[in-house]
Amino acid sequence: MIENQQQTIKAWFDKTYLTRGEMYLRPKEAYYIFAELLQVKPNTKVLDVACGLGRMLEVGLDYNAECYGVDISSVAVEKAKQKLPKAEILEANAEALPFNDKVFDFVTCLGSLERMLDKDKVLQDIKRVTADDARICFMVRNSNSWRWVFTKKLFFAVNKKGHQDAKNYQQWKTLFEQQHLEIINCIPDQWPIMRIFQILTFGKFNGYKNKQNSFTPLQYANEFIFILKKN
Ligand SMILES: C[S@@+](CC[C@H](N)C(=O)[O-])C[C@H]1O[C@@H](n2cnc3c(N)ncnc32)[C@H](O)[C@@H]1O
Repeated sequence: MIENQQQTIKAWFDKTYLTRGEMYLRPKEAYYIFAELLQVKPNTKVLDVACGLGRMLEVGLDYNAECYGVDISSVAVEKAKQKLPKAEILEANAEALPFNDKVFDFVTCLGSLERMLDKDKVLQDIKRVTADDARICFMVRNSNSWRWVFTKKLFFAVNKKGHQDAKNYQQWKTLFEQQHLEIINCIPDQWPIMRIFQILTFGKFNGYKNKQNSFTPLQYANEFIFILKKN
């Protein structure tokens, strides 16, 4: 049953990456903020869990970090490998990461944890592969956002095949804390406000590395960006 569900999710992402490719994801500049919030340093090891086409890895390489990625979609992994020969990218389920213990200084998992079936297992394995002083960044969907409530829930537009899901702030906090992950910081997703600045400045906006003041209070943000450490 679970295996079938996992196959459906993989098949949906394979098809999406084949048909929509790069158009499915945010542009590269939207990913600098994650490296900045984590304070990624040169010659450190960065793992992006559910790396998709490798946007975050591209940014990690710009910071001269050693970059590793995994994703369950074989299509995404093939495309990412071709684009980023300097990164090590593997096809794997985030519930069983193919790495030794305590290897990574930084881990990102962006727009993906809500898609995963056994989130506790994913968190446990991310903890296993991270160094004791590692920093971890999750971007996860908020079930109290207007977008989720009014467009997805009300109009039954939640994508079941791609296992679209969401939780509110307290539910995410509980999930992390139950796995002994301590919250250092949590801010609203930065891309919506950056897009507005991009449009208002006719593309001249270049503050992608800085946190912007969002108009939306945290509790209504589309997505949360959590920065965590092991405790
Ligand atoms: C919305 S995309 C985000 C991709 C990437 N993090 C980004 O921001 O560009 C979600 C990704 O999660 C991956 N995924 C879903 N479940 C997974 C799992 N159990 N293990 C690894 N990857 C998974 C999908 O294949 C897809 O690439």
